[in-house]
Parts: sequence; C-alpha cells; structure tokens
Amino acid sequence: MRQSSLVVVANRLPVDDNSAFDGAFEWRRSPGGLAGALHAILEQTPATWVGWSGHEGPAPDLPDIGSLRMCPIALSADDLAGYYEGFANSTLWPLYHDAVEQAVFDRGWWETYREVNRRFAEAAAEAVEPGGTVWVQDYHLQLVPQMIRERRPDVLIGFFLHVPFPPPELFMQLPRRIELLRGMLGADLVGFQRPQAAHNIAQLTAKLLGAEVTGDDQISFEGRTIRTGAFPMSIDVAEMQALAARRDVRTRAAQLRSDLGRPRRVLLSVDRLDYIKGIEQRLTAYSELLRDGRVKVRDTVMVQVAVPSRERVEKYRRLRDRIESEVGRINGEYGRVGEPAVHYLIQPFDRAELAALYQTADIMVVTPLRDGMNLVAKEYVAARADATGALVLSEFAGAADEFTDAFQVNPHDVDGLKERLLQAMEADPADLERRMTAMRDHLTGHDIVQWARSYLTTLDSTGRVAARIPG
Ligand code: ADP
Ligand code: G6P
Repeated sequence: MRQSSLVVVANRLPVDDNSAFDGAFEWRRSPGGLAGALHAILEQTPATWVGWSGHEGPAPDLPDIGSLRMCPIALSADDLAGYYEGFANSTLWPLYHDAVEQAVFDRGWWETYREVNRRFAEAAAEAVEPGGTVWVQDYHLQLVPQMIRERRPDVLIGFFLHVPFPPPELFMQLPRRIELLRGMLGADLVGFQRPQAAHNIAQLTAKLLGAEVTGDDQISFEGRTIRTGAFPMSIDVAEMQALAARRDVRTRAAQLRSDLGRPRRVLLSVDRLDYIKGIEQRLTAYSELLRDGRVKVRDTVMVQVAVPSRERVEKYRRLRDRIESEVGRINGEYGRVGEPAVHYLIQPFDRAELAALYQTADIMVVTPLRDGMNLVAKEYVAARADATGALVLSEFAGAADEFTDAFQVNPHDVDGLKERLLQAMEADPADLERRMTAMRDHLTGHDIVQWARSYLTTLDSTGRVAARIPG
C-alpha cells in the first residue's frame, strides 16, 4: 500500500461520494466546520485522509482528489448506532458542551466506540510512512492516538479537539474517563480551541493518572512528554473575502434584501440544528421583543438558517420539532400576510449564497450556549468588506476569546440577550465600524492556514511537517 508522510484521521471524509459524475469527485462542503476548513490546506499537500463517507455499509471506492488520497472506513448500522449516534453524540457531545442536554451513559456503546476507534487507528497506522505524521481530529476518535502509538511508535501523533474540553466536575462523570484520557495522551501534542481546555486536561491527568504537569502545557506520563495548548481554529478568510467581493454575490445580496421587503434591519442566524446553538433561547428573546413592541415586523426581519443534523438521535428530532412549532407560533402571532416575522430556512446553501446572506445581515446573531469555536461568526466578519454590520456573540463560543469587540452576551440570560440585540440594532455606525474593523484586523492575521501551521509547527518543532503547507 502507498504510504503518505501526513495522514489526517477524522470521523468524516471531506468528500461527498454522491457528488460523482463521469468518475469525477468534488470536494464536499459538509454543514460541519472541520471538513470545509481543512480543505484549503490539504488540497495542496500530499496526504491521506482516513474517514467515514457518511453512508452506512461497505466503504465506497474513492479516487484521489489532487494529491489527497481517500481512505474510507466502513461503518455498519450497528457501528453508527453505538459509536456515532451513541457514545460520540449522545454521551460525549452533550457532556463536553456543559451538559446543556443530559448525557446518556449506555454501557453497550463503549465497546462499539472502542472497536470503531481501533479500525480508524489500524487504517492510519498502515497509511503513514516511516517517521511520518498522523493528525487525529475530534471527540469521535479520542482513543486513536494511543492505538496508533502502540502500532507505530516511530511516527509523530497530533490530536486536536474541535469541541470544548470540559472542566473536571463534568469529565469525572464519564464511566470510561481513564481510558479516554489515556487515549488522548497517546499523542505528542493535544490541541484545543481555548486555553481553559488545556488547563482542564492538566488538572484531570494529575488527578486521575498521577501525571506530572509542568505549567499548563506539558504533561509527563509513562516516560513521555505530551504537550498541550490552545490553537483557535479559523476559516479560509481569503475565500470568503473573494466571494464577498464578487459582483454576482453583491447583486444577490441586494436581491435578498428586496425579497425580504427592504426592511430597515435584517437579523441573521446560521446554525446546524443542534441544542448547543441556543436557537430556542434566541427565538424566545426575539418573540418577546416583538410582543413588547420594541421590534416591529416590516421594520425588522429575522432570518434563521438551520441545517438539520444527526436526526437519528431523538434529542435532535425533538429539538427540530420544538423550533419549528415556535417559529410557526411567532409568525402566527406577529407576522402579516406576505411578511413573516421569522424567515426559517432548513436548506444547505452554497458558499456564494452564504456570502450574500452575510452581506444582507445588519446584525449577525451567534448565540450558542456552548460552542468549541463557531466558524459562522468568523465567516460573517470576513464577508463584511465595508466594515459595517454588528456581531452579537455568545461569550460561550470559542470565537469570543478573539472577537472581544463583538456585542458579547450570556445567551442563558434572555433579558440580557434582548438588551444586547437592541443595543446592536441601535448602535452608532461609527461604533460599529470601529468594532468590525478590529475584528477584521484580527481575522486577517489568523486564518485557517496559520492555524494549521501553528499547530503542526508545535507538533514538529523541526518544521518538517509545517514546511509542506503552502502560503
Ligand atoms: P458546527 O461545526 O458546530 O456546525 P460552525 O459554525 O463552526 O459550527 O461551522 C458550521 C459551518 O457550516 C460553517 O462553515 C457554515 O458556513 C456552514 N453552514 C452552516 N449552515 C449552512 C447551510 N445552510 N448551508 C451550507 N453551509 C452551512
Ligand atoms: C462539529 C464537530 C465536527 C462535526 C461537525 C458536524 O463541528 O466538531 O467533528 O463534523 O460538528 O457534525 P456531524 O455529526 O454532521 O459530522
């Protein structure tokens, strides 16, 4: 088998195997942030990506995409139930997001999670060339770093967690907490979105494994040193800026505004349909502003874009039902004929349409209850070429560390959220411009390529891996 010097391991492959026509495959833009974000780097770097195609059953035969080799992992219906819908998305996901929904501990799921992690690890161990690098992504594959180390002690192993890593009080609830920690510590570098996460893992390894911790960024365990640190993920800033500058996108933005009835203000939210995103709290705040007469339909419209997600998990189905019934209620009570109060769209959009939507939005409302980073907030800032527009941002999104000039808010506090929305709607244009310029300046120096370079340079202090990244 042909081996690569860089192997990325993630639950999802970055391609859609349905998009094939005449034998040609295209990059997939999944509704999740990871695949789209790494696209900019890996398209030009000779590498292998180990992941799942998104479809149940045997692994499809996928051709290379440019210099990127696809290594699909087959997942059966039972694998998906125990590993993806079960342990990953019903145990780890809610627990890691502040337990805003109850985490479910089902003993049967663990065996499947471990078995599927082993399958990913074996594929990665086979795909990496001697002395190469394996970069493992996210909470689905927390056992993989250690499993690769057992098979390939010669390679460099990185692990990056895209979601929050919880404080000890929450992590300690996990029945398999020791195995999960040991799994991650198989890596040479464990990366997180925010510094607090590195602090949390340092505390946990000292407490549960008796590891020696130096500062917040070095753990000594079983004769090895594991580095940890915060590497806030970003977006392909140039791509979003180029889209926003396109004449057809600007025309489309003007068209959207006109289709919305040329309101004075457009509020926009764009989320995967997930209970962490705070969609219900946001709708409550908006509906109370309408009820109190502080916001008027015709003058102001709200657009909520939501992509259905993980619908085989009951909590996600129930959430969608609740949101749709609430949108129906708000429109029933406050809308007029031809003038809904909330425009609700559950459709995937291409990047150009998203850029047009961002340009149409005077106020971007990003209010997750907890979120690893939130790339939508960064996309909005990148799309605001004229430095207008307001970003209302949850302090519990990773992006809040960087966007200190956003209108930050605690989304659990509905009254506070209402006040923040009004403040953003009524802000002085000069203040908005100052805030947006500061956020855009920050983003310019912190794009996706810098994220990857910073992570990979820390992983391999010799610069062997980072040298392969273009730009
Ligand atoms: P998460 O990874 O939790 O879904 P992020 O905000 O970090 O949240 O990333 C979401 C990504 O999905 C963004 O790149 C965003 O542009 C994209 N996205 C969200 N909604 C849509 C949609 N309706 N159509 C296409 N892409 C979408
Ligand atoms: C988050 C996770 C990603 C995941 C994405 C979409 O961003 O960190 O790992 O791919 O959500 O979720 P899905 O379950 O559709 O892959």
